[in-house]
Amino acid sequence: MLVLEEEQLKNKYLKQIFQYIQDGIIIMNHNREILMMNPSAKRLTGWKMGERVPYCSFCEKRKKSPGEQTCYLIERNEVPYFLSKMPTYHGSKIDVEMSTALIYTDSKTKEQEFLLVLRDQTLQLREEEARVSKFIIKKLIEAKEEEHKRLAQELHDGVGQSLFTISVALQAVEAYVKEHEKLHIYIEEVRNELEKVMNDIKSYSYQLRPHSLDQLGITPTLSTLVDSVQKVHSEISISLDADFRERCHPSVEINIYRVVQEALHNIVKYAKASKVIIRLEKKEEYLTLYIEDNGIGFNLQEVKKVGLGLKHMEERITLLGGSFNIISAHSQGTKIKISVPNWKDDYQ
Ligand SMILES: Nc1ncnc2c1ncn2[C@@H]1O[C@H](COP(=O)(O)OP(=O)(O)O)[C@@H](O)[C@H]1O
Ligand SMILES: [Mg+2]
Repeated sequence: MLVLEEEQLKNKYLKQIFQYIQDGIIIMNHNREILMMNPSAKRLTGWKMGERVPYCSFCEKRKKSPGEQTCYLIERNEVPYFLSKMPTYHGSKIDVEMSTALIYTDSKTKEQEFLLVLRDQTLQLREEEARVSKFIIKKLIEAKEEEHKRLAQELHDGVGQSLFTISVALQAVEAYVKEHEKLHIYIEEVRNELEKVMNDIKSYSYQLRPHSLDQLGITPTLSTLVDSVQKVHSEISISLDADFRERCHPSVEINIYRVVQEALHNIVKYAKASKVIIRLEKKEEYLTLYIEDNGIGFNLQEVKKVGLGLKHMEERITLLGGSFNIISAHSQGTKIKISVPNWKDDYQ
């Protein structure tokens, strides 16, 4: 009685598994006719009972010795794991992982029956592609930052230093020609021009890659950025609230900086705002950034295809494993909220 109950239970579960398992299960005979198939196999391939299982791409193309079966799986009787493309009923091919087992041999006729299990690989392949493209984007961003750093250093230390040397030399020349009034005026003009170029170089170098980011960290650097925007745009009141001094991971620092830079750039360019609030908060595991303006706002759906600024912001944050939220509507201002995991050195 117990054995019978156990048997019934087993049958019940086997039926359920056959019905609901995500893998396609097919039983075919040696002529490749389908004797039984579960709903997943139907969904995956579109084949029907009684039809023949088509050959996969691998078997269609592989070299066979004379008399050898086209089907590699039948030839071997059993293959535990096999990746190939399978033709479906509508002509397309799907990537599948296959495994087979010889499950029955008729003792008289020697006819055989095979179990064929198909697992759809499309999703896995797509996930892998997404992972690889994410990796490439990350490397591109890192390479761009590296290049900015190099250029900034070159401008600051190379070009800047040379200009400084010229300006010192001019000072010396100036001392000799004091009595020559005209020459003295020319030299002064050149020196003034030189000073302007030197200041420009300093500012370009800073914009490319603020050296204070590497030396002092994110909060003082953001404060300098806000001050410089505020100086040029007195019509906007910009407040920055970031009262911690600890260093974050370098990748977090540069990416947060770039996000604020782009957000401020957008505000100045489009928002017509009178007030901007920037808040950077450090919580145990996370660094949260809020950027809020009271400007004209915009419709997110409409601008999705327009520029790259917002897209790049989101990409940077996603790559850090963080979250990016933006709320905006016409005449209602714009709110950006970003959260990134931080305070551990194991970010890669
Ligand atoms: N703070 C903001 N206030 C109003 N409009 C904005 C703001 N930020 C972005 N936008 C709108 O979103 C669009 C896309 O911005 P972005 O992706 O940075 O691209 P771009 O700056 O190159 O146009 C902008 O063209 C602008 O219309
Ligand atoms: Mg922009």
